[in-house]
Amino acid sequence: MERRPHPDRPDVDSPDEIARLVRAFYERVAVDDLLAPVFVDQAAVNWETHRPRITAFWCQLELGIEGFHGAPTQKHRKLSAEEPFRAEQFARWVSLFHDTIDQRWAGPHAESIKARATTIAMIQSQVVPTAEPWPGPT
Ligand code: HEM
Repeated sequence: MERRPHPDRPDVDSPDEIARLVRAFYERVAVDDLLAPVFVDQAAVNWETHRPRITAFWCQLELGIEGFHGAPTQKHRKLSAEEPFRAEQFARWVSLFHDTIDQRWAGPHAESIKARATTIAMIQSQVVPTAEPWPGPT
């Protein structure tokens, strides 16, 4: 039998679970002391339109379901040119994302999504005009 640490928890293996994860994550982003200033004050993100875009992003990356047509690097570059993203903000984005997953989900997709988020954050921290690239979790 497969041994999983949390057999009672769902994996992030369907568009519905990804949508739930995205909702839970951005609820925390919206009140986070390091991230809310960017999302709420600077970008004035409309959560009703942001959530489906981010859900499509992860559905495409993790589940191979086509449908994301955004440009995250361009958007991050523009924001970071106005007010440079800091390494601690990337670290917080990733720790909040991982923590949100670990609270409610478990399984191969959960692990894979966490790993992708870490890698993408490291890459983004090197391509946006930020003073401090984020070296990844220590
Ligand atoms: C310091 C960390 C980060 C900050 C402050 C940040 C901030 C933002 C903001 C404010 C937007 C909305 C821009 C807009 O609609 O005008 C956005 C879009 C987006 N971000 Fe991030 N982000 C961060 C890291 C990440 C990471 C690590 C990922 C992926 C793993 C990611 C994926 C995306 C995607 C997919 C979009 C949507 C792009 C689009 O709709 O064209 N972000 N980000």
